[in-house]
Amino acid sequence: MSDKSYTEKLLEHFMNPRNVGVMKDADGEGTCGDPGCGDALTLYIKVKDDVIEDISFMVFGCPAAIATSSMTTELIKGKTIEDALKLTDEDIMEALGGLPENKMHCSNLGAEALKNAINDYYCKNNGNNTESFN
Ligand code: FES
Repeated sequence: MSDKSYTEKLLEHFMNPRNVGVMKDADGEGTCGDPGCGDALTLYIKVKDDVIEDISFMVFGCPAAIATSSMTTELIKGKTIEDALKLTDEDIMEALGGLPENKMHCSNLGAEALKNAINDYYCKNNGNNTESFN
């Protein structure tokens, strides 16, 4: 596939991803991998008063996976947990101006990893709450 299938916004996030890195003192950590292609995303969140104050990521994947991960962090930073849980694959895709058909699944990594990170946060802080998101 050529780069022409990617939007300018997506390429910009791929070339200049936001919020990259491991967060050592994260309150929650969530990973999502796509067994079909081997790509995997880990998101780290820092939470205060139910607001995701900081978020970062490490990803192993294609340009779309990098861009969707970066966009996920931009969309979520500063949001309440309640609002963050409403994030959908489509929200991420639309924020990037669309994804090529064969790259639609790449946006799944962001939304799923985020839910896993929030779940991890709840498990660490409020006891086991896994049933809420699975
Ligand atoms: Fe698998 Fe992009 S090709 S996440």
